[in-house]
Amino acid sequence: MGTTTTAEAGTPKIELRGISKSFGSVQALKGASLFANVGEVTAIVGDNGAGKSTLIKCLSGYHSPDSGRS
Ligand SMILES: Nc1ncnc2c1ncn2[C@@H]1O[C@H](COP(=O)(O)OP(=O)(O)OP(=O)(O)O)[C@@H](O)[C@H]1O
Ligand SMILES: [Mg+2]
Repeated sequence: MGTTTTAEAGTPKIELRGISKSFGSVQALKGASLFANVGEVTAIVGDNGAGKSTLIKCLSGYHSPDSGRS
């Protein structure tokens, strides 16, 4: 684990904005955003089928989002 400097704190390490992803007629994500900062623990919570895995797969590059940017 590295040390978080004052300069790094508050700088988004992960930034997803307005991510939408559909599988056929199923819209898994609609305008989802995620910001994770250095020095913070970020959790993604939601019901079964809410789109958590799809969001992470968009982040990792496994899925290409229909819209939005990362
Ligand atoms: N490859 C796929 N093809 C078709 N539909 C999919 C696919 N992946 C996910 N879905 C659908 O997208 C929606 C979101 O699924 P996702 O797996 O992202 O949810 P989740 O929040 O990770 O759920 P869980 O808590 O069960 O892991 C669901 O309706 C799911 O059936
Ligand atoms: Mg999942």
